[in-house]
Amino acid sequence: MNRALWLTLFFAACGPEQVEQPVQVTPAVEEQPVDTSMTELTGFPCDVREALQANCASCHAGPTYVTHFNSRDDLLAPGRGTHQLGVEVALRLRPDAAFPMPPVGAPQQPTLAERQLIDGWVQAGMPGGACGELDDTP
Ligand code: HEC
Repeated sequence: MNRALWLTLFFAACGPEQVEQPVQVTPAVEEQPVDTSMTELTGFPCDVREALQANCASCHAGPTYVTHFNSRDDLLAPGRGTHQLGVEVALRLRPDAAFPMPPVGAPQQPTLAERQLIDGWVQAGMPGGACGELDDTP
């Protein structure tokens, strides 16, 4: 056995022993201020907004002569009756509504999928989304 190999084996066998590592104390996680700027969505969800914009905005967005609803807040507020305005919206979008919306004969009528989408959103409590308000249409 040559000398170099012998030394290598010697040091491998007698190398420093595993020193016990000091126990790492994880510092307590500090309370972080909650950043609500990105999480608090107060607009319409995009698909809901699209359906309302296409089918309702021409008469209900902006300062119109009928009840206006531009924002989700408008639909969360009480309507003329005892319901929130959003609930009135859902009721009048149902196929069996006594006074359906849009009015019979309005040029643009929502598809069944759009009616169900808005109905489902209202039943879920009108959760906020990222797509803001309706555009006023002249
Ligand atoms: C062509 C115009 C027109 C369109 C389009 C239209 N509406 Fe209306 N809407 C009216 C008019 C006029 C009234 C008031 C008369 C009435 O209550 O029937 C009304 C009333 C309402 C009311 C009752 C408001 C209140 O204060 O009680 C709701 C809710 C409503 N519409 C929802 C909708 C929704 C949802 C859409 C779209 C899916 C829609 N409307 C589309 C003309 C329209």
